[in-house]
Amino acid sequence: MNNLIKAINELKKEKNAIILGHYYQKGEIQDIADYVGDSLALAQLAAKTEADIIVMCGVHFMGETAKVLCPDKKVLVPDMEAGCSLADSCPADQFAQFVKEHPGHTVISYVNTTAAVKAVTDVVVTSTNARQIVESFPKDEKIIFGPDRNLGNYINSVTNRNMLLWDGACHVHEQFSVEKIVELKTQHPEALVLAHPECKSTVLKLADVVGSTAALLKYAVNHPENTYIVATESGILHEMQKKCPQTTFIPAPPNDSTCGCNECSFMRLNTLEKLYECLKNESPEITVDPEIAEKAVRPIQRMLEISAKLGL
Ligand code: 13P
Ligand code: SF4
Repeated sequence: MNNLIKAINELKKEKNAIILGHYYQKGEIQDIADYVGDSLALAQLAAKTEADIIVMCGVHFMGETAKVLCPDKKVLVPDMEAGCSLADSCPADQFAQFVKEHPGHTVISYVNTTAAVKAVTDVVVTSTNARQIVESFPKDEKIIFGPDRNLGNYINSVTNRNMLLWDGACHVHEQFSVEKIVELKTQHPEALVLAHPECKSTVLKLADVVGSTAALLKYAVNHPENTYIVATESGILHEMQKKCPQTTFIPAPPNDSTCGCNECSFMRLNTLEKLYECLKNESPEITVDPEIAEKAVRPIQRMLEISAKLGL
């Protein structure tokens, strides 16, 4: 493993590459990445890097977002099969039809979508900025929000709006078991529940803090004296434990504990070996149809501009 890490670092330097990693990656990938972050941070880092090659250790839509923002750079992913069930729950042609059937609506799309969906979107959001971006529109603005129904319902409830929602979801976040979280809370009455807004409303009702991966991490770092039950993909526990070595973090269990569904099987496809091969061969490479990229870049840039103004 040490040789592999050394070889990856050498290749990275030789090729002027940057490795970006999401919090749901395996620990060893998070440890070798130049930056680890949530979806917003990864897009922001991709937009400003001076590296020639971006290796996106995450899932396909993250690589696509980086490519759309940096069309002249080579964007690599360790495993092209690393998709996203949430992005898959929103096929671009069906979403475009839905938009067409509801004229007069502003279209807000979660970043967990294909570039083709972003191409029919007015502004992209992540879980870090969704609430503020929605609130930046007038109260009576007619909004279509896709594709995550759980995030959409959550934003509707905290902003007192009635956005029209696409009926999509993430298979990992839908799996958390209310009963098992309640059981854990009985065993650890002092524990706070941290939950990602992609979780179902029944799980969010049990949460003390709802937020993006970065927001949940920040909360734990600022309050390391607590014990936490964490209802999001368990990869985040790596950085939480690293930043708060004395704190107890308990991963919230899925409904079927035999399936290990609180790990995202797509995120976990990336390995150190594949990262090495991808840097060595400069493949697999993300490509986006230039016509789609030209349309998709606008709502992503709009999100980055609003986020910068909001200091996010
Ligand atoms: P964030 O890291 O932006 O909160 O997103 C979670 C996620 O599901 C990424 O796929
Ligand atoms: Fe997609 Fe869910 Fe995996 Fe995130 S955790 S990449 S939303 S499938």
